[in-house]
Amino acid sequence: MKKGVNSLKIRVFTDSRIAVAYAAAIVEHVVEAEHHPTLSLATGETPSALYAQLVEFHRRGLSFTDVTTVNLDEYVGLPKTHAQSYHQYMQEHFFQWIDISKDRIFIPNGYVNNLQNECERYDRILQQHPIDLQILGIGINGHIGFNEPGTAFKPTTHIVGLSEETIRSNARFFNSLNDVPKQAITMGLQPIMQSKQILLMAFGEQKAQAVHLALEGDVQTHVPASILQIHPNVTFILDEAVAKACKLNL
Ligand code: PGA
Repeated sequence: MKKGVNSLKIRVFTDSRIAVAYAAAIVEHVVEAEHHPTLSLATGETPSALYAQLVEFHRRGLSFTDVTTVNLDEYVGLPKTHAQSYHQYMQEHFFQWIDISKDRIFIPNGYVNNLQNECERYDRILQQHPIDLQILGIGINGHIGFNEPGTAFKPTTHIVGLSEETIRSNARFFNSLNDVPKQAITMGLQPIMQSKQILLMAFGEQKAQAVHLALEGDVQTHVPASILQIHPNVTFILDEAVAKACKLNL
């Protein structure tokens, strides 16, 4: 596929702390400017400092009572209360500290008997809540959410077998490699691409290859994040470590 019109913005900061402050200011703007905004949220190591910053903003008066959140993904087979579930992550890092209403929080549930029904239920929620601002990290293999490389781009919520790279990478959060779930439920690419605005954060040189391919390669299923090239309002927020390692022509 050809590269899209290049409206994509790249912002490089000396370190991730400043980058996160920049991202947080954009989130604050959306929360304040939109009437009932919907934020789509990511988990993992990258966005945790963003949530800490937003909690700090909340302590200084930013209210989330009008905000709806949807999350990108969840592991299959982990109960919501499991320490490594993304339900638990969101509680720990963000939701327990802010004034968001519980009934405005949506996260796919990977601990149900009928996963297909859960995918359909989640798609109905996403249709009801078009995304104003999408927060993304990027996997070292170029995944966004758990849209893994190599298969056709999937528009809707689906069950995915996690790639070996993802399992190895996420093992850092579990006691052993064997404990990492092998499957996940993930938002498809359509609601992400229909978001009004997207922020992708990537920090550290281990993300350089993925960022390089996402930005400078063709749009291709081997690098799911490359699809962002054809979104009209996306900003890559990077630290110098990743920008230098992928030799961005800035
Ligand atoms: P990380 O994960 O922030 O933990 O590196 C990002 C991702 O896999 O999307």
